[in-house]
Amino acid sequence: MKKSVLDLTEEEAIAELAFLAKRISELDIAYHRDDAPLVSDAEYDKLKHRNEAIEERFPTLIRQDSPSLRVGAQVAAEFQKITHTVPMLSLSDIFSEEDVYAFVEKIHRFLGIPDSEDIEIVAEPKIDGLSFSAVYENGKLMTGATRGDGSIGEDITANLKTIRQIPLSLHQNEDLFDVPPQKIDIRGEVYMSKPDFFELNQIQAEKNKKIFANPRNAAAGSLRQLDASVTAQRRLSVFAYACGEVNPITWKTHYEFLEQLKKWGFPVNPEIRVCHNTQEMIRFFNELTEKRSSLPYDIDGVVYKVNDLSLQKRLGFIARSPRWAIAHKFPAEQAVTRLNTIRIQVGRTGALTPVADLEPINVGGVIVKHATLHNADEISRKDIREQDMVVVQRAGDVIPQIVRVLTDKRPIDSYAYEFPQVCPVCGSRAVREGEDAVTFCTGGLYCPAQQIEALKHFVSKDALDIDGLGDRNIELLFEKGWVKNTIDLLNLQKNHELELIGLTGWGLKSANNLFDAINKVKSGVSLDRFIYAIGIREVGEATARLLAHNYISWSNFQSAMCSDSALEQLLHIEGIGPIMAQYIVDFFQEEHNCQLLNQLSRQINITDYVAPIKKETPLSGKSIVFTGTLETMTRAEAKAKAQSAGAKVVSAVSAKTDYVVVGVNAGSKQTEAEKLNIKQISEKEFNQMLDV
Ligand code: IVH
Repeated sequence: MKKSVLDLTEEEAIAELAFLAKRISELDIAYHRDDAPLVSDAEYDKLKHRNEAIEERFPTLIRQDSPSLRVGAQVAAEFQKITHTVPMLSLSDIFSEEDVYAFVEKIHRFLGIPDSEDIEIVAEPKIDGLSFSAVYENGKLMTGATRGDGSIGEDITANLKTIRQIPLSLHQNEDLFDVPPQKIDIRGEVYMSKPDFFELNQIQAEKNKKIFANPRNAAAGSLRQLDASVTAQRRLSVFAYACGEVNPITWKTHYEFLEQLKKWGFPVNPEIRVCHNTQEMIRFFNELTEKRSSLPYDIDGVVYKVNDLSLQKRLGFIARSPRWAIAHKFPAEQAVTRLNTIRIQVGRTGALTPVADLEPINVGGVIVKHATLHNADEISRKDIREQDMVVVQRAGDVIPQIVRVLTDKRPIDSYAYEFPQVCPVCGSRAVREGEDAVTFCTGGLYCPAQQIEALKHFVSKDALDIDGLGDRNIELLFEKGWVKNTIDLLNLQKNHELELIGLTGWGLKSANNLFDAINKVKSGVSLDRFIYAIGIREVGEATARLLAHNYISWSNFQSAMCSDSALEQLLHIEGIGPIMAQYIVDFFQEEHNCQLLNQLSRQINITDYVAPIKKETPLSGKSIVFTGTLETMTRAEAKAKAQSAGAKVVSAVSAKTDYVVVGVNAGSKQTEAEKLNIKQISEKEFNQMLDV
């Protein structure tokens, strides 16, 4: 017979809370991961209640890994940000068997391993959910985050803790040597199983609440809840499949790591297989395609990963994706429906984009109502007409497309679509420039559609990131006549505060939140974001950063762009071509834009550009040439390493070359280097220069 909670001493409470945390976690794993409950539900509930009762009496003794923390914490206004110490990368996609062969061949070539020698590849289902990162320190779950942009995610610790399949402490075998790493960032996918998804939608329907289009949306909507107690009520599941920062690492292959994850209590997908050659990889893909519909969760392809971690390390990354892994996606889903009307959308830069409004149709679990038609040429090439029956295709997150028209089902009174010659919004002439397939409205910022789109762009996440102003609200403020341009937006509080508070759907709190967000922007925005936000045609984030990097301050940039030498200056910047340069110059020559920019820069504190600190290496900014055969790596590997150390690799020796890396049997390039007196370094020296 257990002692009553009221009679427990503090020491006894400490011991019992520790026991309960461990026991409940074991039961969770048996129930959720192994589908093999060890006790009845009533027994389980009894343990949870006892844990809660002890915690209520001794609140200071609540453990970090307490099972009661799985119900969620209090509601915050927004998620905190978490920087991933190792970025969460994405994968390149492939779609065919040939692509699989090409992937494997490339790996062999990069590593200099003959095709006759097998390289083990782990094939895993690609789970269609949302990726998470869970950081454990000394075996305890410390923080949880979403992927975000790969570098910075959202802090969803409270939400992750509500998912029973995520261990609050990594399970340790009795074996004393089996200690978890001091730190490990475990990554995987949060998903909702098909049965849980159907059940949730049924409950939502009964409560007259939002119906989710597919399990992925349901998982996303459930996980990213500021109120984690909502997450706690949804049944979410996870599969772990990767790690970020880890110290120390005790496994040598990816497969060993997956085995370790299981031991720690994480669910690992049961369909994973080690393949020894391309044929086995393709066989796995085909078998999984067959199995797909009978699996209790959605998958959208197969991920192939090089098994050996030392090879993974040598292969490294290209931009944001690893060379050692790739996603082989299932073919796009298709369905047939009626195209009701063709509508023309006017974009920020005046581009007229035709959009097909469809009879809503379920394409692989997602209800599709619209498809992009790209431009006039695309419509005439496919001879797409209103009222046609069309094949619609959806692949991953891309906008649905029309594959073809079923002409035998075409109504007899149908007629070819005529692309408008005037802007459907402002009536200005619509023109096509040169070879360009895109038709543009010539109304510029006099066209209301362009004004609205410019505003949407101005407040968007990557521009000024003004929270609380979704597309609908911008349209509303525009229709009211309160916000016609960006400067009106900055003056919204001054000119329309009371009216906004009184507007249906608004109120004191949301209006104040918006004013706070606008004031935050006024107090400081970095030059690169500002340049991106003002919406110069073709100037994306990367170009905005390049311009900011070159001019550092807004006053420098503005006076340069308004000077006679603007075009010439821009053409000297590497990465800016003549067309882009002309767009930038045109933008600053427009009187209307200049006036707006003067007013904006008076109200917004545009802070000088601070270039991100790059790790300096002895090779940073150096131009290098390789000659001869290298012994410890292939040429491709050497080139990739040199580039990530900041060097520029060129093929011919010239006076501008800084180093020539000389391998075995060096040829004419070495002679050339001698002639031009260029510094020659050995492979060993090259490796040392990388190693800092
Ligand atoms: S590995 C560096 N394995 O796919 C590689 N990703 O397109 C990191 N995903 O963001 C990812 N199942 O959300 C990996 N078995 C699996 C996966 C998987 C689903 C998702 C993940 C990732 C995206 C990449």
